[in-house]
Amino acid sequence: MKATARAHANIALVKYWGKRDAVLNLPAAGSLSATLAAMTTTTTVEWRSGQPDQLFINDQPQVGGALEKARRVLDPIRQEAQLSGAGALIRSENDFPTAAGLASSASGLAALTVAAAKSAGLALAPGPLSALARRGSGSACRSIFGGFALWSAGTRPDGEDSSAVCLHGPEYWPLEVVIAVVSGKKAHGSTEGMLHTAATSPYHAPFLQSVDRDLEHAQAALTERDFALLGRVAERSCLRMHADMLAADPALCYLQPTSWRVIDRVWQLRAEGLEIFFTADAGPNVKVFCAPGQLNAAQAALSELSEIETLISSGLGGDAEIIDA
Ligand code: PMV
Repeated sequence: MKATARAHANIALVKYWGKRDAVLNLPAAGSLSATLAAMTTTTTVEWRSGQPDQLFINDQPQVGGALEKARRVLDPIRQEAQLSGAGALIRSENDFPTAAGLASSASGLAALTVAAAKSAGLALAPGPLSALARRGSGSACRSIFGGFALWSAGTRPDGEDSSAVCLHGPEYWPLEVVIAVVSGKKAHGSTEGMLHTAATSPYHAPFLQSVDRDLEHAQAALTERDFALLGRVAERSCLRMHADMLAADPALCYLQPTSWRVIDRVWQLRAEGLEIFFTADAGPNVKVFCAPGQLNAAQAALSELSEIETLISSGLGGDAEIIDA
């Protein structure tokens, strides 16, 4: 009744921002991401009869939100595996600074899902694992897969058609990423931010309408290994998402002045010939994607920006997997 799994964070190239069902975490539109090798969560789950669920992240006991997210994954597993009287003891470790505002929920909920299902004796295929991970945190459904993943919005009210698939493994196109860690005030959580944006931003419907075309172009860019096209799509998807957030009332402003300095530098470096593009999520960090062979030059140029706290570099990561059972 015990298993350990490892999963990696993923970064969306076509963004998910908006839910069609907030309980099941069903997205209002599809999204597409790349999984990163360097940001990993390792999670051990042990089922114990007659005990409550307990969650430790980096040895810190968690209550409230984090435990609630975990239960959205644990409850269906508990039901399916007929473990109604049992609680899960969960120990989760991130190998990247959780406090730096780097998304840990995708890798965390994906690792939890894989470890919890295995330790409960359920042999689930990647598709159902992805749908389960989605219940904990939407973007976690993409971290079940290495390389490039596509998460479809689906249309079914029960969400059974809304999980991710792998488009290409990590070897298909070995892009690299430099993450510029930017300090800033604590960002609003993504669920809260999405609901607020959907309720108040006049740009929300146009943002959602633009996603299908971005997905089509991003998939074509991957098929052709067309880095310039992928960058164009990723930057416009990111900026349209931030425009949608900024148009909320009151505005949600996740990017900080330093984030914009990094973005501006990326544009300059690209004009000088470097093959790079940026993206950013619900926080101030900027992720710079590099075509194969461009990482060192990008890292050297970005390290000259003294406002950046840390640079983390990564290749593409593999599937979420069991490492001990
Ligand atoms: O899955 P969540 O609730 O962590 O939301 C992720 C939202 C973004 O990171 C901003 C975009 C994305 O597609 O990952």
